[in-house]
Amino acid sequence: MPFPHRSLPTFRDIFGRWGLILALAIVAGSGCGGGGGDGSGALDETAVRQLLRIPAHMAVPAVPEFNPITAEKIELGRHLFYDKRLSANGTQSCESCHHQSLAFTDGAVRSVGSTGVVHPRNSQGLGNAMYNASFTWSNDTFVWLEDQIVVPIISDNPVELGVTDNVRAEVLSRFETDPLYQSLFAAAFPNDDAGVTLNKIIFALTSFCRALVTSNSPYDRLLAGEDSALTARQLDGLRLFNSERFECFHCHSGINLTVSYRDFNSDPETVTFPFFNNGLYNIGGSGDYPIHDQGLFNLTADPADRGLFRPQSLRNVAVTAPYMHDGSIATLEEVIRHYARGGRLIENGPNAGDGRLNPLKSGLIRGFQATDEEVAAVVAFLKSLTDETFLTDPRFSNPFQ
Ligand code: HEC
Ligand code: HEC
Repeated sequence: MPFPHRSLPTFRDIFGRWGLILALAIVAGSGCGGGGGDGSGALDETAVRQLLRIPAHMAVPAVPEFNPITAEKIELGRHLFYDKRLSANGTQSCESCHHQSLAFTDGAVRSVGSTGVVHPRNSQGLGNAMYNASFTWSNDTFVWLEDQIVVPIISDNPVELGVTDNVRAEVLSRFETDPLYQSLFAAAFPNDDAGVTLNKIIFALTSFCRALVTSNSPYDRLLAGEDSALTARQLDGLRLFNSERFECFHCHSGINLTVSYRDFNSDPETVTFPFFNNGLYNIGGSGDYPIHDQGLFNLTADPADRGLFRPQSLRNVAVTAPYMHDGSIATLEEVIRHYARGGRLIENGPNAGDGRLNPLKSGLIRGFQATDEEVAAVVAFLKSLTDETFLTDPRFSNPFQ
C-alpha cells in the first residue's frame, strides 16, 4: 500500500454516485433531468487524443461515459467559463478566479467570491487538472471533474458564483433567451431539446476544463526526447527533486508531478487518493491546522485526517504563486526551505506552533540540508514546468474578446 496512513475507498466504491449528486443538485422543473449525454456515443481513446491534441509522451485523460467529450461541448463550456452572467449578481465568472495567464489561478492568497466572501482556500490551476484522481485541495469523494464544477456554481458557503436555488431559474433564463447560447446549446446537445439546464452547463464547463491540456513546457520537450530542453542548472534541480535527500518525487511524480493521478486506461481498482500532512501547522502542539480548514478532516471528522491535503500538480507552478491550500507561502524558494526545515515554525499569533513536530506529518517530510545553490537549482527546475503556449493558447482564451 503506497499510502498506508489511511484506508482509501477504491474508485469503484464511489464512482456510481454521480447520478445521485445530480439528482440532489438539480432543482425540480429543470426539465427531464437528463440532458447530459448527447446520445452520440463516447469517443474512443484515439479520438479523444486527437480532439484534445494530447502529444505522444502523455496518456489520454479519463472521460466518463455519462459525459462524452465533443468539440461543441468544449466551445459552449469556454463561453460559459468566461461569462459573468453565470453568477447570480453578474459580477463574476469562473475566470474571475482562474486567469489563463496565471495557468488558471488568480494570484490571490485566498479567492474572493461574487458577494465578497473570502474563500478559505487558494485558487487551483486547471492545466491538466483532469488527470487528478480526486478534485479540490482535499476531497476524496470528488472523483470526476463534474463533481467539483457544480460546487462553485451553486455553493452558498462560501458563495462563489452564488447560483442558489432561489435564483437558479432566472440565471438559466439569461442563457435560454440569448440567440448565441441557443445555437451553442443546440450544437452541444443535439439530441435534447429540454433547453438550458444546470446539468448541461456543468457538462459543458467540465468538457472545457477537461480540454485544458498543458503539454509544451521545456520539461515536456525533455520527456519527448529533446536532450537540450533544460539548462544545466535545471537538470541539477531535476536530479535533486528526484533524490532521496529532497524526497519531492515520492509525492510529486509522473506527468503532472503529483501521485494523485488517473487516465483513460487506469484500472479503477488501483486508483488511489493520496493526501498528506506537510507540517505547515501544529497549533499548540496538538497537530491542529487552523480551525476553518483542517483538510480532509473537514469531511471525515476523523482526527487523524487533520492537515491532509492532495499533493498539488506542479505544472506551471512558477506562475501560480502564492502556494499551498491557503496561499500561505509566497515564493518557490520559501516552499523548498519549508521542506528543508521539515515543517514550518510559526512563532507568534493564533497559529503558533512548530509544524516540524506535527504528530500527523507525513514520514516523507523529514527535513534535509540544502545549499542556496541547490535550492536555486530546484527552483530553476520548477520553472521548466512553465508552458508559455498554454498561457496564451487562443483555444482557451476569452471568446468574447
Ligand atoms: C471565487 C473564486 C472561484 C470561482 C468563481 C471559481 N473557482 Fe474554481 N476554484 C477556486 C478555489 C479556491 C478552488 C480550490 C477549492 C477547494 O479546494 O475547496 C477551486 C478549484 C477548482 C477546480 C479543482 C481543480 C483541481 O485540481 O482539483 C476546478 C476544476 C475549478 N475550480 C473549476 C472552476 C469552474 C469551472 C468555475 C466556474 C463554474 C470555477 N472554478 C469558479 C476558486 C474559484
Ligand atoms: C509527503 C508528500 C510530499 C513531499 C515529499 C513533497 N510534497 Fe510538495 N506538496 C505536497 C502536498 C500534500 C502539497 C499541498 C499541501 C497543502 O497545501 O497543505 C504540496 C504542495 C507543494 C507545492 C505548492 C503547489 C501549489 O500550487 O501551491 C510545491 C511548489 C511543492 N509541493 C513542491 C515540493 C518540492 C520541491 C518538494 C521536495 C523538496 C516537495 N514538494 C515534497 C506533498 C509533498
